[in-house]
Amino acid sequence: MSTVDYSQKIPNNVNLNEDRTLQRALEGWQPNFINWWDDMGPENTTRHDVYLRTAVSVDPAGWAQFGHVKMRDYRWGIFLNPGDANREVHFGDHKGEKVWQDVPGEHRANLRRIIVTQGDTEPASVEQQRHLGLTAPSLYDLRNLFQINVEEGRHLWAMVYLLHKHFGRDGREEAEALLQRNSGDADNPRILGAFNEKTPDWLAFFMFTYFTDRDGKFQLSALAESAFDPLARTTKFMLTEEAHHMFVGESGVSRVIQRTCQVMNEIKSDDPAKVRAAGAIDLATIQRYLNFHYSVTIDLFGADESSNAAMFYSAGLKGRYEEGKRTDDHLLKDQFYKVLEVREGQLLEKEVPMLNALNEVLRDDFIKDSVAGVERWNKVLDKAGIPFRFKVPHKAFNRRIGALAGVKVSPEGRPLNDAEWKAHENTWLPTAEDRAFVASLMGRVVEPGRFAGWIAPPAVGINRQPVDFDYIRFN
Ligand SMILES: [Fe+2]
Ligand SMILES: [Fe+2]
Repeated sequence: MSTVDYSQKIPNNVNLNEDRTLQRALEGWQPNFINWWDDMGPENTTRHDVYLRTAVSVDPAGWAQFGHVKMRDYRWGIFLNPGDANREVHFGDHKGEKVWQDVPGEHRANLRRIIVTQGDTEPASVEQQRHLGLTAPSLYDLRNLFQINVEEGRHLWAMVYLLHKHFGRDGREEAEALLQRNSGDADNPRILGAFNEKTPDWLAFFMFTYFTDRDGKFQLSALAESAFDPLARTTKFMLTEEAHHMFVGESGVSRVIQRTCQVMNEIKSDDPAKVRAAGAIDLATIQRYLNFHYSVTIDLFGADESSNAAMFYSAGLKGRYEEGKRTDDHLLKDQFYKVLEVREGQLLEKEVPMLNALNEVLRDDFIKDSVAGVERWNKVLDKAGIPFRFKVPHKAFNRRIGALAGVKVSPEGRPLNDAEWKAHENTWLPTAEDRAFVASLMGRVVEPGRFAGWIAPPAVGINRQPVDFDYIRFN
């Protein structure tokens, strides 16, 4: 059951050939997906042979197989984690009942919305990253970018399978629309704000994969608890791939910091202008990028108070992060949670029913997880003997969604008037000049084992290959 059948047009472990209608519908969508990949996927890469891992089974021990393939021929397919015939709903009003193999009529519209919103982020990030290959700092990094791109493509397949199989005609229409919206498009943009931002350079890419792919981890973890079992099983498998994306982000930023520290120690200066003149990215600029990506990403969790979030939970559609490890009653009816609000220019906590605050609960879980990696970046500074420390900004900083949108707050959490914000904005968020400087460092480095001057090489290669392995063969 868990082994992937590659003899079929669409590799899968869901016995797709037993459902001819569904198989035909997906085979009809496949060429549209390939057209989208050709038009919107990584630029000018059709002939590259890329050292990619491909899923051969969803077993934890051996799902990945590595080899040089053309990305267009990557075996995108449908993989669900094995089902558990005894699985029960373990939170909300249906707690204790059998999980659903089909979509209950009353939850159809909401489940479709949840799946479409998740599905929309997957191709969006591929679109955001499509030009990055032209300025890769090394072959190793280029390969990691492409690995992420093909896996996000597969995540789109995962959501499209659910739409086709469980939502009839509406689902097929939504699957088409997922290929028609485009990141940043003025008329038909992607659904969520962060997925319409540009990812113009590799520092932005590493920040994106550290923070925004981590949003993916938390959303997928919440969906992996769903009473709708096919959704739970498919998101569980997606999570195994997401870990690598966050690794690319964390280690990427870490290597940028490492290189900057090296340069600072060589030139014996912490003056940003001198660091830049020596070809590295100054720490203050890295902090501004961090502030931007962090604040844009925490908006993705939605409004701090949300009756939809309460309904999704009580109905069993979407749980909490690690729902199964929590020791409360999993109903949350008479529990409360603290959210922030602005009263008379002050940021104050207020208690609200926890069910309404579940977006905030998930956001806070994300924040805890993000901070841990930032501390690991600080260890790099420590090791180099540099007293600077990176910090995530206050959660009210630069928000666009929820009660905190529209208030101006410093990274430390101090409410500001417009004039104060304007006076400091340039020191807190990347300026056009910062971005132009970072862009000026971006040049294509693709000789095996060579790295651009603004980033340190990784400690080890991919899949125990040497760092100077020919991860991509240009044909
Ligand atoms: Fe994804
Ligand atoms: Fe991802």
